[in-house]
Amino acid sequence: MLLADFIRRGTASLEHLYPSPEARGLVLMLCTERLGVERYTHLVEPQTPVPPGREAGLEDDLRRLCAGEPIQYVLGFAEFCGRRFKVGPGVLVPRPETEQLVTAAVAELRGKDAPRVLDLCTGSGCIAWSLALEVPEAEVIGVDLSDEALRYAENQFSGGQRVVPQGHSRSEARTLILAPGEQARCRRPSFFLADILDTEQAFPYGPFDLIVSNPPYVLERERALMRPNVLDWEPAMALFVPDGDPLRFYRAIACWAQRFLRPGGAGLVEINEALGAETAALFRSAGLKNVQIHRDFFQKERFIRFTR
Ligand SMILES: C[S@@+](CC[C@H](N)C(=O)[O-])C[C@H]1O[C@@H](n2cnc3c(N)ncnc32)[C@H](O)[C@@H]1O
Repeated sequence: MLLADFIRRGTASLEHLYPSPEARGLVLMLCTERLGVERYTHLVEPQTPVPPGREAGLEDDLRRLCAGEPIQYVLGFAEFCGRRFKVGPGVLVPRPETEQLVTAAVAELRGKDAPRVLDLCTGSGCIAWSLALEVPEAEVIGVDLSDEALRYAENQFSGGQRVVPQGHSRSEARTLILAPGEQARCRRPSFFLADILDTEQAFPYGPFDLIVSNPPYVLERERALMRPNVLDWEPAMALFVPDGDPLRFYRAIACWAQRFLRPGGAGLVEINEALGAETAALFRSAGLKNVQIHRDFFQKERFIRFTR
């Protein structure tokens, strides 16, 4: 089978799920990862074959994509803040806007001596690990209610991990690995199973300089706007909140902040773009200070920063 034929057929078979350029992008990503070819190999060398030993695996991947499974689950990783995080069914695929939360958190921690960070609703641990690796002197604790998600969080970076520093291309990424000693230099985050909605529970790990969180915030009624590759595959508990109580996680985070943030410590949370004013009002009425809404790269109200 020619690589060009596989790309053409694969793209066509995904067009019932994705717009054509996105379908093509997914098939190209599959080929670059699985075969080590470049995105343009099939154009500049049209006779390039798919090695016969790889055909069955590639067809199997394509079948999974056609069933709507996210490419990150098929490949087993998602890129986030220049690193590859293991993901699969049971854990949310990290989103690009959350990288902006990490950037803001790193700026918040810079210059602090051995800062302590709490990541509520840690999921794959992508925020916790990114902060631990970017701010090696930080001590980071992640909390989640999902056993499955915590298994991913705890096992990130076991074995060689490839990194994609900002501004590098994917083909360079394939040759880059976590710098020797980078993992050893950072303090491994600790992860705990807990329900953050239980705001009275004993939690003997504070106080913290920073609380970060990307909690579930999609309204049940927003399901209708979402695509099947998210709805049918990613864990509902990572995404949805009841229409009647959309801010339940922020109410809980405000309690955690009042209990476990040092005076003057900061909170950074990702929010539902449609609920910026209400979420900010909630933090103000919980007694938190300097509450500000920040926009993401689409100019949507996406983050709130506050201090205690
Ligand atoms: C939007 S995901 C965020 C995951 C990760 N921090 C990220 O940014 O990709 C929300 C996470 O909250 C967790 N979660 C849901 N309900 C929870 C609860 N009551 N207590 C703690 N974690 C919860 C889910 O398991 C999921 O991992």
